[in-house]
Amino acid sequence: MTDRYDPLDPEVLCDPYPVLAEQREREPVFWHEGMGSWALTRYADSMRVLRDHETFARDPRRSGGKVPEPSLSVQTLDPPQQNAVRSLFMTALRAQDLTPIEERARLLVHERLDQLAGAGTFDVVAEIAVPLSVAAVADLLGVEPPPHGEFAAVSDAIMRSMDGGLEPALVEPGRLARRQLSDLVDSWFTASARPGLLARVRQATADTSGARARLYVKNTARVMFQGGYSTMAAAVGNAVHTLLTHPGALERMRERTLLVTGVDELVRFDGPVQGTTRTAVRSCRIGGVDIRAGQKIVTLFAAANRDPAAFERADELVLDRTPNRHLGYGWGPHACIGTTVAQAGLRALVAALNDHPARLAAAGEGVRRRTATMRAFDTLPAALLP
Ligand code: HEM
Repeated sequence: MTDRYDPLDPEVLCDPYPVLAEQREREPVFWHEGMGSWALTRYADSMRVLRDHETFARDPRRSGGKVPEPSLSVQTLDPPQQNAVRSLFMTALRAQDLTPIEERARLLVHERLDQLAGAGTFDVVAEIAVPLSVAAVADLLGVEPPPHGEFAAVSDAIMRSMDGGLEPALVEPGRLARRQLSDLVDSWFTASARPGLLARVRQATADTSGARARLYVKNTARVMFQGGYSTMAAAVGNAVHTLLTHPGALERMRERTLLVTGVDELVRFDGPVQGTTRTAVRSCRIGGVDIRAGQKIVTLFAAANRDPAAFERADELVLDRTPNRHLGYGWGPHACIGTTVAQAGLRALVAALNDHPARLAAAGEGVRRRTATMRAFDTLPAALLP
């Protein structure tokens, strides 16, 4: 029983990959005392857990736990209960034309760069990642974007509370922030619907579905907005950092095929979501280790995505990597619903950085956010050079 991987250790926050690689070599399936969970570092083990939803539950009620009503969403329900709400959102998303959303996101970044050029050092997170992510997710859903600074504070409190198991003091601010977010989402459901994904799912559930289905839809809309925004903002910060520390990578992504494969590689290489939790509903064995029914399992995406058994040159940024079946967007019945939107947003970011006449350059060390579940920057200083 070891606890060598401490996600909140300053060195690990800075660069988790060497510690995770060592852990994968030494003891690929290990008990993590702090997380009260088994942790998986190998790609194949994580993939198995994510796919086998019958053995590994996301829904805490399947292992005797409770889920408060506001949390019943696509994210907490498992198949078959999850199927209707998941397919409702997936169908609405497929019907949405993402091209104009990508173009508006590109223009937004371009305009921000115009304003920031010549203004000296600025923070990539506050000035680009946050406004881009709030705007793109609001655009997708078809809702008025909330003031992005204010929304970032609410979302941060929720994001930090995901580490409540490690730091109980974060739980209460997270609860209050969730309340604020619920009020915002409620207001979208009482106002008349604007065109967008939300209007589509509201329309589809208006006449035929019961109150429970409508609750799942509202809660899922909340997850899409907050979860989508926070992971997108974190991904943008990480992507910009990777591009700034890999000379020539940004310029190579001027080529369309590399833009498309490159944004996926950026998420594999240093993605925002560090892992996810499931609970074994029956005893099983993973990698020669006995797991008892009721025990938790964390699939460490950051480790799986650098597993040399699954990826050649796993520690290198390979912009034309194909196929690239990384776990940065998860896998199986809980895989990210917003993948295509996130890809569009990241392409918009990279295209705008490449189109703009000023050149983005690092302007000091960024500060990593002290969160275990989400890998993000609190601040990332940069400057635009003529
Ligand atoms: C680069 C940005 C993003 C990354 C890396 C990402 C990553 C992920 C991952 C890893 C999961 C699965 C977690 C698990 O298995 O427990 C997930 C789920 C989810 N994501 Fe994303 N995401 C991103 C952006 C977005 C966006 C923009 C949206 C919405 C507009 C979104 C909506 C969702 C939803 C609704 C789920 C829950 C799906 C379910 O449990 O069935 N994500 N995301």
